[in-house]
Amino acid sequence: MTETATIDQHPAWKALLDHAEAMRDVHLKDLFHESDQRYPDFSRRAAGLMLDLSKQRWRRETLDKLLALARVAGVPKGIERLLAGERVNLSEDRPALHTALRLPADAHLNVEGEDVVPGVHRTLKRMAAMVDKFHAGQWRGATGKAVTDVVNLGVGGSDLGPLMVTHALADYRPRDIHPVEVHFASTMDGSQLADYLTRFNPETTLFVLSSKSFTTIDTLSNARTAQDWLMGHLVNGRGDRDLVMRQHFIGVSASPEKMSEWGISDANQLEFWEWVGGRYSLWGAIGLPIAVAVGMDNFRELLAGAHEMDRHFANAALEDNLPVLLALAGIWNVNFLDIRAHSILPYEGRLEFFASYLEQLEMESNGKSTTNSGQTTPYSTCPVLWGQLGPNAQHAFYQLLHQGTQPVECDFIAPMRRYDRIEDDATRALLKEQHRLTLANCFAQSRVLMLGDEAIEDDGPRPNHKHYRGNQPSTTLLLDRLTPSTLGSLVALYEHKVFVQATIWDINPFDQWGVELGKKIATQTERVLASHEGVEALDESSRHLIEAVWRAEEQ
Ligand code: F6P
Repeated sequence: MTETATIDQHPAWKALLDHAEAMRDVHLKDLFHESDQRYPDFSRRAAGLMLDLSKQRWRRETLDKLLALARVAGVPKGIERLLAGERVNLSEDRPALHTALRLPADAHLNVEGEDVVPGVHRTLKRMAAMVDKFHAGQWRGATGKAVTDVVNLGVGGSDLGPLMVTHALADYRPRDIHPVEVHFASTMDGSQLADYLTRFNPETTLFVLSSKSFTTIDTLSNARTAQDWLMGHLVNGRGDRDLVMRQHFIGVSASPEKMSEWGISDANQLEFWEWVGGRYSLWGAIGLPIAVAVGMDNFRELLAGAHEMDRHFANAALEDNLPVLLALAGIWNVNFLDIRAHSILPYEGRLEFFASYLEQLEMESNGKSTTNSGQTTPYSTCPVLWGQLGPNAQHAFYQLLHQGTQPVECDFIAPMRRYDRIEDDATRALLKEQHRLTLANCFAQSRVLMLGDEAIEDDGPRPNHKHYRGNQPSTTLLLDRLTPSTLGSLVALYEHKVFVQATIWDINPFDQWGVELGKKIATQTERVLASHEGVEALDESSRHLIEAVWRAEEQ
């Protein structure tokens, strides 16, 4: 434990505490009555995104104080250090350089004596060659048939990012190519994989083993089952094991040795770097399933959109900087208004997996309680974050948002335009109507959350159970359209938001030590379950659960 003062000891934090006291009883609707300038004051545009923070429970004065806090916490310097490739991941003593994965080919970034950009683009070229081969129907299985199904086996960052983007950009699948479908299996129980194995043809199925460490048991157990399935179907007849390995497996990892040990042929290994964190890795080789699904051009557009956000993050003044502003709204809610739940609500069906993706990005990054100098944080850090498609959530958990006892911050996310590419006029018109309906719901919900009963014009007397108190803060993010480029900037926006919050909280957003102990204990528990030995050393609850499973197995 060191003597370093934590950020909550700084006058800038204390000024915010005093200010929060004065703001505590101010209702959002009053803030809108006070000023007709909230929208120009609190909204900003950059990189194809429009960020409206006017429905946050703050005043201009609040934001000024938060900006002062960001400065004293070293946010401007932190941004510079992150983007320059300095060792910002202190506990693992390495840079966090996901932004290098989206630098253009003619850029240079010298990190500890080496320009990392050429390596990034070499990998992109190798990915492009693989994608071309799939799309030309030239990637053939062991029996000579062209591959039609690519299954990504990965978990966490090696699954959630590619899954989210592949789904989000499904309208961008290239036409006139050999059809290849991309699928994802992450669960260690094998349930997702088992479903594919009953439906797919082994002759035309290829597996991408995605794992930064190449030690993750979830992925490796799925991989072993997949390998056994392929060998069982393809080796007894015409094929041979090496051929199956060459034609049906690609490996993506930061550990080429481990890929080789597992049997991935050199030509099928895509490598990335230790300085890319798992949950920040969709921009490089881990993004291979995305590139197979939507084509390399769209994948490069995704990178370009993220890079545009990176440049904005690097160059915009703090008061105009979208990631900084989004982060400060979160800090204000968590640390000063005691709002520790945060819901992500996309009004765009294609963003179905966006909330799960952000759950890892935000909570695995900032779910920490030890500062960089080893003290226990005396303040709250990452809120509990969850979400679902907004329209579906309206019929599920919005009741709690409107009338529950929890204050919750909400992010509403929607594209302004939709369905322009539908060729049939009648269908396009109807779908556009559905889009309008969706936007109406999105705007209506944030209004009711803000105003409560006041959102209704004929506001007569009502019983308590029909009362809406409002005052729930929200952010609205509008994308010009959902394109590879705007999706790239949206994801980069949240990545940088997480970094800014971590800088203010003085925690490391790039490690995840909190998940290690569970893995160790699971290995020990598996030994007990399999061997029937050592159960008596466990606690009473675990012992009874294990014994119940043994009894069930005997029946
Ligand atoms: O256990 C957590 C974690 O390490 C995540 O950070 C990571 O995204 C996931 O597991 C998968 O790890 P890997 O890509 O090494 O298989």
